[in-house]
Amino acid sequence: MRASSFPAALSLLVFALVGMVFARPTEVYAPPLTFPSVNASLKAGGRYNVTWDTSKAPENITNDRGRVVLAKDGVQDPDHPLAKGFLLLDGRVEVTIPKDVQPGNAYQLVLFGDSGNYGPRFTITK
Ligand SMILES: *[C@@H]1O[C@H](CO)[C@@H](O)[C@H](O)[C@H]1NC(C)=O
Ligand SMILES: *[C@@H]1O[C@H](CO)[C@@H](O)[C@H](O)[C@H]1NC(C)=O
Ligand SMILES: *[C@@H]1O[C@H](CO)[C@@H](O)[C@H](O)[C@H]1NC(C)=O
Repeated sequence: MRASSFPAALSLLVFALVGMVFARPTEVYAPPLTFPSVNASLKAGGRYNVTWDTSKAPENITNDRGRVVLAKDGVQDPDHPLAKGFLLLDGRVEVTIPKDVQPGNAYQLVLFGDSGNYGPRFTITK
């Protein structure tokens, strides 16, 4: 087992190193959300700036336009994005929390990006 897994691990390492040296000219960018922060309390119907950290943005971004989707218990509502078409490099976008969402504490915003980047869990109140 050891004898056969070692070369596999080694080739993975080589792949990783080669990938680092020959980095793609454009990169998919999924910046971390900074607001709503963990356990923040937002009001249904309220207007907020969603923010994210753009300090580590790659020079050339493939996906330069973003979309923000609300999720509850990890389940997204992709049909009703809270915002879309904004520039990811802006680092913020204004959204309105829908008036009709159930109050609760298992909400997250998901920033796209490419595959969707879940922010911290926060609470929505009436
Ligand atoms: C970004 O794109 C420009 C223009 O195509 C290129 O000159 C530059 O090397 C690229 N930068 C990176 C980090 O890939
Ligand atoms: C957030 O709330 C959860 C559940 O009440 C708690 O376990 C956790 O410690 C809180 N985290 C912070 C950073 O306040
Ligand atoms: C969002 O941020 C912008 C720029 O700082 C500010 O002008 C705007 O009033 C903010 N919106 C809200 C809802 O706080």
